[in-house]
Amino acid sequence: MSDMNILNGKNVVLGITGSIAAYKAADLVSRLKKLGANVNVIMTENSTRLINPITLQTLSSNYVATGMFDEVKSWEIEHISLASRADVFVIAPATANVIGKIANGIADDLLTTTVMATKAPVIIAPAMNVNMFENKITQENINKLKSFGYRFIEPATGVLACGVYGKGKLADVDDILNGIIETLTVVQTKDLSGMHLIVTAGPTQEPIDPVRYITNRSSGKMGYALAERAHMRGADVLLISGPTSLNAISGVETMNIKTCDEMLQRIIDNFEWADAVIMAAAVADYRPEFVADQKIKKDDEIINLRLVRNPDILEKLGQIKGNKILIGFAAETEDLDDNARKKIIKKNLDMIVANDVTKEGAGFEVDTNIISIIDREGKITRYPLMSKMQAADVILDRIQDIMK
Ligand code: C5P
Repeated sequence: MSDMNILNGKNVVLGITGSIAAYKAADLVSRLKKLGANVNVIMTENSTRLINPITLQTLSSNYVATGMFDEVKSWEIEHISLASRADVFVIAPATANVIGKIANGIADDLLTTTVMATKAPVIIAPAMNVNMFENKITQENINKLKSFGYRFIEPATGVLACGVYGKGKLADVDDILNGIIETLTVVQTKDLSGMHLIVTAGPTQEPIDPVRYITNRSSGKMGYALAERAHMRGADVLLISGPTSLNAISGVETMNIKTCDEMLQRIIDNFEWADAVIMAAAVADYRPEFVADQKIKKDDEIINLRLVRNPDILEKLGQIKGNKILIGFAAETEDLDDNARKKIIKKNLDMIVANDVTKEGAGFEVDTNIISIIDREGKITRYPLMSKMQAADVILDRIQDIMK
């Protein structure tokens, strides 16, 4: 989907902050220029101590703005004009300090003032010491910004400027460039706009007592990839998620649930709104019949735990489906295709995404998947190993085909 030409003629505003990695911004400016972008650089006071504004001025062929009260030059560089002219706003490298300021509405220099005034997509590439990056405050700020639609290019892991090994190195210039290209591409091609989509993800947890539960193995990665790609392609996405360790997705409304019953309730509450439901969650088929009020004591050698069937969410939705699209997942370990075919009929689905969780690259926790898609007619399409993001796009393309 990405196309380097997309940068041609685009206005990129690049904010540089006071991280040692500031010198890498020179390379980024030069690469952006070569791809035809017009680049306006804004530097924080601290960053000017690490790289000379003249370098960036020469590479960008534009005046480099540093202070709020710089004399306005003939290029119209006051902050409001830069904010509104930007097609994309990039902050690379971004320190914990500037991320914290933006996340908390502080606009006390030219960069933070301009970024607050822009309506362009904002891409932030953090670079800092590993402990600063992992600090809960930084993580909370990042998650908050993500939930408002700010995009992040994850820092790399390696030896940091402070000599420590860990996560916090500015991402490769190639990755930052790809992030910019992808963002501009998405902004231009919102092919799913108007679609209302519910995605479920992760496992459910069915309590035994206040401290114990039964659950399924599921990282939630496939469901989150679907929610993220659908959102990037313009759909309105409601993500209903069981407990996972994944970060919130920028701009996607997320409802966190624990049990199958809670998941069912949230879907039913929002079913009328939805055009399609993708059940990527690994819902527990059984739950303990009784939930003990107190932690069960380990006095007995053997205890009997009676389990009762949970409602089959998809089957219930299949009964009230109307013209909505229902997609199920089948994570089988044997007779994959046959089981998937049967499930489509039984649950009244539009398609099943099947993956053999015993195959390398298709299991839990990994970032890749090997999927087959089975449609209502029983036709099977097999896809090669791909990233979960790519698999998400394939599934979304198929939904789009059904809706046409
Ligand atoms: O029949 P099976 O559980 O293998 O079907 C898997 C599909 O059904 C998945 O899409 C899963 O999210 C969904 N499911 C459900 N309610 C359940 C169990 C599974 O909707 N109680």
